[in-house]
Amino acid sequence: MKTLLKYALVTGAGMGLGKAMAIHLASLGHNLLLIARHGEGLVQLCDKLSRLYEIKVHCMEADFTNEKTFGRLEQWLKSYSVNILVNNAGIGGSNYFLDAKIESIDAIIKVNIRATVLLTRLLIENLHKNTPAYILNIASMASCCPIAFKTVYPASKSFIYSFSRGLHQELKSLNIHISVLMPGPIKTNMEISSRIDKQGWWVKAGLQKPHEIAEIAIKKMFKQQSVIIPGYINKINWLLLKLLPKNVSIPMVSNAIKNELPEVAAKLNAHALAN
Ligand SMILES: NC(=O)c1ccc[n+]([C@@H]2O[C@H](COP(=O)([O-])OP(=O)(O)OC[C@H]3O[C@@H](n4cnc5c(N)ncnc54)[C@H](OP(=O)(O)O)[C@@H]3O)[C@@H](O)[C@H]2O)c1
Repeated sequence: MKTLLKYALVTGAGMGLGKAMAIHLASLGHNLLLIARHGEGLVQLCDKLSRLYEIKVHCMEADFTNEKTFGRLEQWLKSYSVNILVNNAGIGGSNYFLDAKIESIDAIIKVNIRATVLLTRLLIENLHKNTPAYILNIASMASCCPIAFKTVYPASKSFIYSFSRGLHQELKSLNIHISVLMPGPIKTNMEISSRIDKQGWWVKAGLQKPHEIAEIAIKKMFKQQSVIIPGYINKINWLLLKLLPKNVSIPMVSNAIKNELPEVAAKLNAHALAN
C-alpha cells in the first residue's frame, strides 16, 4: 500500500445518486476513490471535491460491461486502503421484453449484479484490514415486487437485497457492516425524470432528491442499519408492497409502468387481436 490514508470508494459517481454520495462523504472529510463509465465530468468532480474539502480524491474511468475492467480495477485498488464501499452504479429502463435487446439485458445484469458482487469480493480483504468497514449497496423499492415491462431491473435489485442481507449476516462479526438502500423514485437525469413523470401519483409521492437520500443513507450506514428505506412515503409503500397479495400488487405496479410506454399498450392490443 502506498499510503495509510483510508478511502471511501463510490461507483457510478459521475452523476445522480452516486455523485450526491461522493459529495456527502467528502463533506464529512472522507478521502474518495470515484468510478464512473465516462471520465470527463468525473475528473472535474475529483478536482472540485479535493480543493473544497481538502481531501484526497482519485478517480478511474471503468465500464462494468467490459470484461477487462475488473483486472484493471484490481491493480488500481492495490494502492489504496478502503474502509467504505458504495456500490451505486446501476442501470434500468422500461421496455417490452419482446423488444428488449440482448445487449441491454446483459448490461443490466453486468452493471447491477455482477459488478456489485465482483467489486465486493475484490475489496473484501482490503475492507477487513481497515475495520470498522462499511458496504452500502443500492437496491430499490422495485426490489419489493416483480414488475412487468421492467422485469430484469427489479429482479436485479431483488438479487442485491438478498445478497446484501446474506452478506451482512456473514460478515458483521468481522466488523464489516453491509447496508442495503431501498430508494423510491429519484429524478437523477432527464430520461429517468421523464419516466417518473408518466407514472402514477403514488409513485411520485415518494420522490426524493439525491442529496437528501445520500445524507440519510450514509448516516444510517454508519449506524450499521442493514436495510435503509429513505422517507416516510417509501416506508409506507414498502409496507403496502409486503402486505398486499402479489396478484394485486404486481398488476397494480405494472400498470403504472405501462403508462410510460403507450406504444407497448398498442402492441399488446395488436397481439391480442391477432391471436
Ligand atoms: N433514479 C431512480 O429513480 C432510482 C430509484 C431507485 C434506485 N435507483 C438506483 O440508484 C442507483 C443510482 O441511480 P441514478 O438514478 O443516480 O443513476 P444515473 O443518474 O443514471 O447514474 C448512473 C451512474 O452509473 C454509472 N454507470 C452506468 N453504466 C455503467 C457501466 N456500464 N459501468 C460503470 N458505470 C456505469 C454512470 O456512469 P456515467 O456517468 O459515466 O455514465 C453513472 O455515474 C442505481 O443503482 C439505481 O438503480 C435509482
